[in-house]
Amino acid sequence: MVISVALIWAVVVGLCCCLWLVLGIRRRQPGEPPVENGWIPYMGCALQFGANPLEFLRSRQKKFGHIFTCKIAGCFVHFLCDPFSYHSVIRQGRHLDWKKFHFAASAKAFGHESMDPSHGHTTENLHQTFLKTLQGDALPSLIENMMENLQSVMLQSNMLKSSSSEWEVDGIFAFCYKIMFESGYLTLFGKELDGDKTVARQQAEKALVLNALENFKEFDKIFPALVAGLPIHVFKSGHSARENLAKTMLHEKLSKRTKISDLISLRMQLNDSLSTFNELSKARTHVAILWASQANTLPATFWTLFYLIRCPAAMKAATEEVKNVFESSNQKVDPKDPKLVLTREQLDNMPVLDSIIKEAMRLSSASLNVRVAKGDFLLHLDNMESYRIRKDDVIALYPQMLHFDPEIYEDPLTYKYDRFLDEKGQEKTCFYRGGRRLRYYYMPFGSGVTKCPGRFFAVHEIKQFLSLVLSYFEMELLNSEVKVPPLDQSRAGLGILQPTYDVDFKYRLKTQ
Ligand code: HEM
Repeated sequence: MVISVALIWAVVVGLCCCLWLVLGIRRRQPGEPPVENGWIPYMGCALQFGANPLEFLRSRQKKFGHIFTCKIAGCFVHFLCDPFSYHSVIRQGRHLDWKKFHFAASAKAFGHESMDPSHGHTTENLHQTFLKTLQGDALPSLIENMMENLQSVMLQSNMLKSSSSEWEVDGIFAFCYKIMFESGYLTLFGKELDGDKTVARQQAEKALVLNALENFKEFDKIFPALVAGLPIHVFKSGHSARENLAKTMLHEKLSKRTKISDLISLRMQLNDSLSTFNELSKARTHVAILWASQANTLPATFWTLFYLIRCPAAMKAATEEVKNVFESSNQKVDPKDPKLVLTREQLDNMPVLDSIIKEAMRLSSASLNVRVAKGDFLLHLDNMESYRIRKDDVIALYPQMLHFDPEIYEDPLTYKYDRFLDEKGQEKTCFYRGGRRLRYYYMPFGSGVTKCPGRFFAVHEIKQFLSLVLSYFEMELLNSEVKVPPLDQSRAGLGILQPTYDVDFKYRLKTQ
């Protein structure tokens, strides 16, 4: 009898182990974080997490504490929720790999070969290329070209009624999309070679950018599904949109353009000299950059303008700051001769716009910062606890938990345009939790070595956009009581979330 019970027990345990292996279920080992396998084979907790990541993580934090493991689409992800322990993941430890996930995700979504030099298709150090061409000395020319492009796009005939006193009605998102996409596209990818300035050529150039905008929108719609692992061939129109974009970015086409940014011209040069990519693959690497440069900037611009128009105090403070900057450099606002200029120093000295942008991004950002464990190791937390992490496990930070933490940001769901200003009206950098000063309190651009290399340009271009719309236009909501549109959670993890619907407003040229 004893033998048969033991035998049955052994068979049951054996079967369970097989089932665990087949289903990929993990049993928590001593020293490991608590684990939740979820109920769906392979997917684990993916659906619950995807439906509302913030709610999901808050409920698990309550149940398990600062760190816990969830199975998500075949991976075991350790979520670290204590901001004082972020440092142990963010500093570039020898145990954590940031490249694996990033290079794989990019190759999967954009269809180019791996950009990881260890895979042998290129020897380019992409990270260095980004730092060299998007930061420091590269910024003034990006700023200058963006300012010129923004003014020519926002004041062109299709944006305005023929009589300047008439209101034009549009959605705020649609308005931001049109202006920022075209201006950003021209700033990075240049314009058709100068010389032929006939109306027909200009119309052809406009058509090319509008086509790119439509293809971008179509491709961007399927982006979350591609990152989740679905093959692009499932999405016919998204797939052809990506390929259409790539065809316009073949080197043969780009080399006929002028005023191309340092980023794109250096990338073209390095694609040609250091990689074995074919021409289409090279073009797809440029599509990846187009996506990175626009996908977050467009919704960030929307949220900034939306909250600004909705808040009279923010509008007043921003308008004053912008007016002072132009007046102090003796510039006159004249839509008939749109030549306003902002230097990098001026842009870096606009604390009100800075706070307005930060507050809008705090409320709308939902990026996921991930690293992959290179081998088994011990993760040390701030509270002196240590946890065993297995090779190939993922460690994730979800900064929206910080951004919506009432202990860090009082009344976190409320928009306060001056939340990031100190008592002297300068940038506020002291934020606390439980009486301790936080090192990490605002992270829409990611963290550590994978922090967005375009973040300075991104903030500059949104400041430029705001300075110009505030100078040239009067703007009003159609419905002054309009509610904040909900965030589109289907993009959670990818950066700034879009609104689930657009909000109408009206604008017209200011009488100077
Ligand atoms: C508000 C606007 C923007 C936001 C919120 C944003 C945010 C981010 C985030 C969260 C990442 C991933 C970081 C990580 O994985 O930890 C990223 C990567 C990146 N961003 Fe941005 N970004 C913005 C605008 C831009 C712009 C304007 C450019 C370029 C002109 C740009 C270029 C890039 C590139 C190239 C990467 C990939 C870096 C790499 O893999 O090494 N971004 N961005």
